[in-house]
Amino acid sequence: MHTADKIVQDHIDSPFSLQNDKAYLAWREEKLDNYSRFLQAQPVTISDLSNPTESERRKLGDSCRKTNLVLYESDAENTDPAAVRAQLRSFAECMGLRIAERHRSAGELGIVALQVSKAERQRGYIPYTRRPINWHTDGYYNGPDERIRAMVLHCVRPAEDGGVNQLLDPEIAYIRLRDRDPAHINALMHPKAMTIPENREPDGTLRPVSIGPVFSIDPDGSLVMRYTARTRSISWRDTPETTAAVRALTEILNGDDPMMLTVRMKAGQGVLCNNVLHNRTGFDPDASAESRRLLFRVRFHNRVKGS
Ligand SMILES: [Fe+2]
Repeated sequence: MHTADKIVQDHIDSPFSLQNDKAYLAWREEKLDNYSRFLQAQPVTISDLSNPTESERRKLGDSCRKTNLVLYESDAENTDPAAVRAQLRSFAECMGLRIAERHRSAGELGIVALQVSKAERQRGYIPYTRRPINWHTDGYYNGPDERIRAMVLHCVRPAEDGGVNQLLDPEIAYIRLRDRDPAHINALMHPKAMTIPENREPDGTLRPVSIGPVFSIDPDGSLVMRYTARTRSISWRDTPETTAAVRALTEILNGDDPMMLTVRMKAGQGVLCNNVLHNRTGFDPDASAESRRLLFRVRFHNRVKGS
């Protein structure tokens, strides 16, 4: 038995099992039903980020259950980074999220400030530059015990120019691939589909090699996606099926899928999501001027409560 088949064998009732077309088609229909309406809904307004009301929490959870992501907006005037950090920490607790704190750039309260930085430990890392970032899910280089299942991107100060995010629900990527050819799913569920080699961090620590599938199924039945569109420091399983699947996924991500969300977050706005695919355009190209863009990123080991 193909190892990927073995994995889905354990989830034979799962819609993500290639052996269960009936469950898949029923799930697919329900998933796509009204999807765009949920995706295009106005951001959920949160009156107090540190303590969303029951009704606000329900809206956030409902949206994440449907589309795996939700936009929210909170007080745009709240631009004191220390205060926003504390509020995000409390917000995460209210949504039942466990912060993954061990990221090398995790600052105070396990929250990473994404901004242009010349700090030694961030030098050379694209998130801390003005450059665009290609499609990925967060923590794709983590080991299986360190999977990132949810995250928040919160805008404290937008760029003057650019810094646009695109977001795509991994379940939609799964549907697009399976609709094209179920063999793509089989290839991307292979336990050795994608390898990120070990890496020496600027602080001297060694991040071990990460070998694993692109799509996997969690014990609770949810789909997890581990992906990066980077082409350096990555190796794909060397089979024609893998090559074809990766090419198809690249085409999907570079296309204009109507279920892809494009957003340029304003101050106080954020995205709460079950680690969906995302990218970023470059921003503030005039290097002679300082860029004020500041986003906070918080990563979690578990999914958004109620989704
Ligand atoms: Fe990211």
